[in-house]
Amino acid sequence: MLFATVVYLVSIIIPCVEAAVASLSAPAPSKWVHPGAMISQSQLDFIKARVNGKEQPWLNAYNALLEDVKVAQTPSPHVIVECGSYSNPDVGCKVERNDSIAAYGNALAWAISGETAYAQQAIKIMDAYSSTIKGHNNSNAPLQSGWVGSIWARTGELIRYTDAGWPDNSIEQFGTMLRDVYMPLTVNGTDHNVANWELVMTEAAILMSVFLEDSESWNTAMGWFLKRVPATIYMTSDGEYPIAARGQSSSSDAIIAWWFNETTFADDGQAQETCRDLEHTGYSFASMAHVAETARIQGTTDLYKTNLGTRLLNGLEFQSQYVNGLAVPSWLCGGALKLTLGPITEVGYNALSFRLGVDMPETGKLTLKQRPANNNGLFVAYETLTHAENNA
Ligand SMILES: *[C@@H]1O[C@H](CO)[C@@H](O)[C@H](O)[C@H]1NC(C)=O
Ligand SMILES: *[C@@H]1O[C@H](CO)[C@@H](O)[C@H](O)[C@H]1NC(C)=O
Ligand SMILES: *[C@@H]1O[C@H](CO)[C@@H](O)[C@H](O)[C@H]1NC(C)=O
Ligand SMILES: *[C@@H]1O[C@H](CO)[C@@H](O)[C@H](O)[C@H]1NC(C)=O
Repeated sequence: MLFATVVYLVSIIIPCVEAAVASLSAPAPSKWVHPGAMISQSQLDFIKARVNGKEQPWLNAYNALLEDVKVAQTPSPHVIVECGSYSNPDVGCKVERNDSIAAYGNALAWAISGETAYAQQAIKIMDAYSSTIKGHNNSNAPLQSGWVGSIWARTGELIRYTDAGWPDNSIEQFGTMLRDVYMPLTVNGTDHNVANWELVMTEAAILMSVFLEDSESWNTAMGWFLKRVPATIYMTSDGEYPIAARGQSSSSDAIIAWWFNETTFADDGQAQETCRDLEHTGYSFASMAHVAETARIQGTTDLYKTNLGTRLLNGLEFQSQYVNGLAVPSWLCGGALKLTLGPITEVGYNALSFRLGVDMPETGKLTLKQRPANNNGLFVAYETLTHAENNA
């Protein structure tokens, strides 16, 4: 019942500006906005004012962040980071993710508190990596590059454009690292892997393009990203079966295998990895929100108001209702779901519900329950702090 209401409201609010799938585009801006990888200066100002005013939920979220960054750990960069599937082998992979998130956390703590020790720690970590790392190899290299590249881009933007005292030659070295180490493995996405891979790889390339002011990489990655979105979240209006991803057959057998053996496509918001688990499903939703947020800040297409917004909204509501306790019907994934959606709802929920005013009861309920959202150890971090009710 509630869900029907959501769909009804969506059809009122979003489609009046919704572009058809095929025509979705968000070209690189003619003038880059900085800081502008997922967080803008006005959003930072908003967070700072809320934290200084000791207001919730920002204060609790900020205190949780400070817990994570209180030990100024020594970064452990590897020259070649080797990441096999499911972390086997793991030569510098987990530590690279941990270091990059620590740098990002310190950058946020600096931007909010103005305490230079945090800025210096973020700079120390970024410089350690940019002076050491030469590449990633083994099967998970593109995925790892996506996760870490996205976090680096956000960290670099925050530190570079907040008068943190990052020397020019270090900035240049960091840009070279993004361009030579992370961009080549991410900018073209992937035509032979699940949705969350291609979406986070292209997310990273798009966010790194902001730091590098690289229109060509933005446009290439954005092209693949926007093509992948409709193949990630199903809408009944797509027809009997979901849209095939690049490189995938659109035969029903191939679609079923690709969607983890789901045979029934009956509701708006089913996602390619739903029958795998909601954790990996949630990664895809996080990437959609991260890219839409960045595109909005850069002043190109407001993707939330397009078909991407409609799909993200339905994806979030559909999965959240089961995490919130709705019984899983027998037609869906054989009647069983792994309900680990993770701390991925804040950015999309803020944009669609708080800013655009769409009713999202299930996502709202889950988001409030999970606050403050911490980090997922990969590429989603501190989003209650950065995006709760943040319309700036
Ligand atoms: C990185 O790992 C250390 C040691 O396990 C942990 O204490 C810290 O919280 C982690 N950092 C982040 C940002 O998660
Ligand atoms: C990755 O690079 C390391 C260091 O050069 C090397 O020892 C390892 O064999 C490489 N792994 C693969 C799968 O290429
Ligand atoms: C991306 O794809 C284009 C076109 O297929 C190709 O020219 C380019 O070399 C690729 N870039 C990378 C970094 O692999
Ligand atoms: C899908 O079903 C096929 C045939 O029963 C099986 O081989 C395959 O492992 C299943 N795939 C998944 C992701 O469960």
